[in-house]
Amino acid sequence: MILAIETSCDETSVAIVENGTIIRSNIVSSQIETHQRFGGVVPEVASRKHVESITWIIEEAFEKAGVSPQELSAVAVTEGPGLIGALLVGVVAAKTLAYSLDLPLIGVHHIAGHIYANQLVHQLEYPFVALVVSGGHTELVYVETEGRFQIIGQTRDDAAGEAYDKVARALKLPYPGGPHIDRLAHEAEEGFPLPRAWLEQGSYDFSFSGLKSAVLSALNSAAMKGQPLEPRAVAKGFQDSVIEVLVEKALRAVQAYGAKQLLLAGGVAANRGLREQLAVRCAEAGVPLIAPPLSLCTDNAAMIAAAAFLKLKRGQFSSLELKAEPMIKL
Ligand code: KG4
Ligand code: ZN
Repeated sequence: MILAIETSCDETSVAIVENGTIIRSNIVSSQIETHQRFGGVVPEVASRKHVESITWIIEEAFEKAGVSPQELSAVAVTEGPGLIGALLVGVVAAKTLAYSLDLPLIGVHHIAGHIYANQLVHQLEYPFVALVVSGGHTELVYVETEGRFQIIGQTRDDAAGEAYDKVARALKLPYPGGPHIDRLAHEAEEGFPLPRAWLEQGSYDFSFSGLKSAVLSALNSAAMKGQPLEPRAVAKGFQDSVIEVLVEKALRAVQAYGAKQLLLAGGVAANRGLREQLAVRCAEAGVPLIAPPLSLCTDNAAMIAAAAFLKLKRGQFSSLELKAEPMIKL
């Protein structure tokens, strides 16, 4: 029975997970409304909100799970990467619980959490390739065996979710913009033509800032001519470009590395267009596609418990010296 805490960005979340798969509770308190009026996450505000909520969310997680502190086997927490002030709140809360209940502490990498969110609902087969797409990350990760991660490609500038959020802001859509662009793209008949950033031949890296700039300049020049672009067409053009590159590179990596599965992870994994395209292409290529349910795509603590469970089995514990690490490597 693991209690896990996730506070790396703008969600305060506490979960209690049994045997690595049974979610007894997974409370997610989003700060979106607070940050919305600033058009993005304000780190200092996020830290303060985590401080305000963490204690009652821990209480609620116990209550919802019907579990007493004495039944816990370990306390897990996201140690990084993320916003330093936000991470610190979770780390201090987890250390306090572990110390006062005399339980082992397990520090978890946020991306390992996103990847192992899949383990809560699917049987994983190694080796696999994970396409991790979130507000802070865009990575292709080769996972040879449990807990052995090799980053084979990553973004050189903006993360996919970050590009979604910036383009959404240009289209005057609320933060976070990903779900809004997803919805608009599905309403469009045709997409506004935009470039694809393939980078050098054979590269598994990504780049989304050029695409974002192409959207912004197209919007500006059309507005200057007094013929503003149709937001739906822009949303579709942008989404098609992002998805095409993500899907092609992910499938190429699966084939090149002889992976048995393609895993999808991270907040952008909730994208309908991406899930549809991946499902079609994976079916054609005979590659099993594993994706978390929508509720486990965006930040939550159950995914941290799932990754911590594997560490618990291997006896990989952290000391009470555990620090919040905003830039920690996978
Ligand atoms: O994983 P996550 O909750 O936080 C980070 O670790 O970054 O991901 C949040 C990101 C945001 O950029 C949000 O716009 C994006 O995931 N997102 C989506 C969708 N739902 C959330 N992007 C595209 N389509 C969606 N349906
Ligand atoms: Zn995340």
